[in-house]
Amino acid sequence: QIRDLSETLHVEPYLVGGFVRDLLLKRPNKDLDLVIEGDGIEFARKLHQVLGGKLDVHPNFGTATLDLNGFHLDVATARVEYYEYPAALPQVKPGRLKQDLYRRDFTINTLVISLSKEKFGWLIDFFGGNEDLKKGIIRGLHSFTFIDDPTRILRGIKFAVRFGFTIEEETDLLIRQAVEHGVIKELKGPRFWEELKSLLMEGKELKTLQYLDDYGILREIAPDFKLTDQQWKNLKRIDWVIQLFKDQCIVQRWLLVLMVIFANLSKETIERIANDWNLSLKDRAQLNFIHEEVYRVKEKLSEGKLRPSQIYNLLESLGSEELMYLVLISDSQLILDQVLEFYNRLRRIDVEVSGKDIINLGFSPGPLFKEVISKVKEAKLNGKVKSRE
Ligand code: CTP
Repeated sequence: QIRDLSETLHVEPYLVGGFVRDLLLKRPNKDLDLVIEGDGIEFARKLHQVLGGKLDVHPNFGTATLDLNGFHLDVATARVEYYEYPAALPQVKPGRLKQDLYRRDFTINTLVISLSKEKFGWLIDFFGGNEDLKKGIIRGLHSFTFIDDPTRILRGIKFAVRFGFTIEEETDLLIRQAVEHGVIKELKGPRFWEELKSLLMEGKELKTLQYLDDYGILREIAPDFKLTDQQWKNLKRIDWVIQLFKDQCIVQRWLLVLMVIFANLSKETIERIANDWNLSLKDRAQLNFIHEEVYRVKEKLSEGKLRPSQIYNLLESLGSEELMYLVLISDSQLILDQVLEFYNRLRRIDVEVSGKDIINLGFSPGPLFKEVISKVKEAKLNGKVKSRE
């Protein structure tokens, strides 16, 4: 349909960037980037009429997005340079597409597939991206790429860990120089945090953190940000702990990683980082996730000899990631057993007595009800009552 429409509208459509990269790597991707040599917005409007979906247009940028059940299409305009005569078809300066692509980050993200009728399916490779893709290399496009946009350092690491690629020597050096130059420290606003999250969401935290450590990025975030042997050990145990609870809860692995790596930073340092990155309240809460509560619970559980109702009350308020974090940092069979007891048994215990039952016994609703129900629950948790009777 894109091909047919481009013929009708006399424009050249190109598929560019991550989708082409992933297509060649045979990896799924539902984000399509289209560059239209011609009027991208008109193209998106017409495409919307044919395919339906939800269209958003940004006339100032010459871009539009189209959401089509599960697929997301970004349409951009490769700016028209001149008209040969009024009302003529716009002539696009040769090399326009190449210039647009040269502003990107890595060679593997500059690949293009033509979708026009005459050249349908042709792979256009201006910067050797296909060769790098075959060799498994992450190569920056030019020497200012990381100075222009330091978040690209994290993107480079992301692609390296995601695909198991190597960061090419010159690019590696440019990253080190940029970090040494202070680009990470100077970076204000939430973009670094967004890229960091996206990097941790790749789920390959060991490799990722080795890169962050090796490039000195952690140190640039905060001078005392250095992972201890214990933290590395905890990171290595994340798979184990997730496996342990896999049937019981859905865990956001990246949050667990975040908890481990930020654990040794002081509250003031975390506050300063959150301010530098201009984080929203929700993001701040994620960064500051190590509630003292976890440590308090750990202390209590390590005393042992707790009644089931006490274990329940201690663990009930913790989220999944906090529970797993507790297991990770405890390294204790006693605590593990209590957490498992809570997870496998205690949290499933229900009080089969309701307010209605209490009313039927002749009481009027009031604060006493809550107390009665919690006492019944306590008795049930501790095995003192076994049935509804
Ligand atoms: N890009 C860039 N510099 C950035 C972010 C993005 O040059 N800081 C370019 C990249 O070339 C990329 C394109 O913009 O191909 C689109 O970026 P994004 O939407 O992040 O897509 P992907 O590269 O596909 O990344 P991912 O697979 O993680 O979605």
